[in-house]
Amino acid sequence: MSKLIIANWKSQKTVKTATDWWKTFASELDSKMETKVAIAAPFTLLSTLQPVLQPSVALAAQDVSPYPMGSYTGAVNAEQLKDLSVRYVIVGHSERRRHFHETYEDVARKVTEALNAGLHPVLCLDKDYITEQAAALDPEQYGKLIIAYEPLAAIGSGQPEDVGTVQTVITEIKATFGEVPVLYGGSVDERNSNEYLLVSDGLLVGGASLKAETFLQIVSQKE
Ligand code: PGA
Repeated sequence: MSKLIIANWKSQKTVKTATDWWKTFASELDSKMETKVAIAAPFTLLSTLQPVLQPSVALAAQDVSPYPMGSYTGAVNAEQLKDLSVRYVIVGHSERRRHFHETYEDVARKVTEALNAGLHPVLCLDKDYITEQAAALDPEQYGKLIIAYEPLAAIGSGQPEDVGTVQTVITEIKATFGEVPVLYGGSVDERNSNEYLLVSDGLLVGGASLKAETFLQIVSQKE
């Protein structure tokens, strides 16, 4: 199975810096590589990136409204993302759970909205979230998920979780959700990405995706 590597830009970049990033990245990208690559850009940059991404790079969003199209001021819904050719959407990132107080039920509603619109939800879980998040979801949805195992202590800290523990937790996630793709995220960089690719189905990369050159190195690693 080919690996999936997603750049999570978080709340970073402007039209200018995103366009510059893309120019550098696209100039060196091997369009025949097997790895699937996606960029999870802020909402404001989706329509800038949509027309320029090659078919080999997919567009992802970092969040989606728990509600459909309608009177929900400030919310961006799944149908609107689909309209911009977005393929993947991150749901339940720990930064959203922590800073925006998202609950397991909110995250479950977002998964449902994403799936109804034909988007692929990338559900972020720390170990402690597995059981409760699984309980909040309809088990019929499990097989349609991509999961990102993201230990809180590893995110943005420069201290990734050790590879053995990642492997163990990924096995636990698959025991709960079935044979779904499970990515690892948390201080992945161009020096350690290979080790994590060996035990996972892909990566969710925050800080190290902000420089095009570094992210290129990560996606260009041989499987
Ligand atoms: P990091 O972030 O790579 O900067 O640790 C990963 C994430 O939060 O998705």
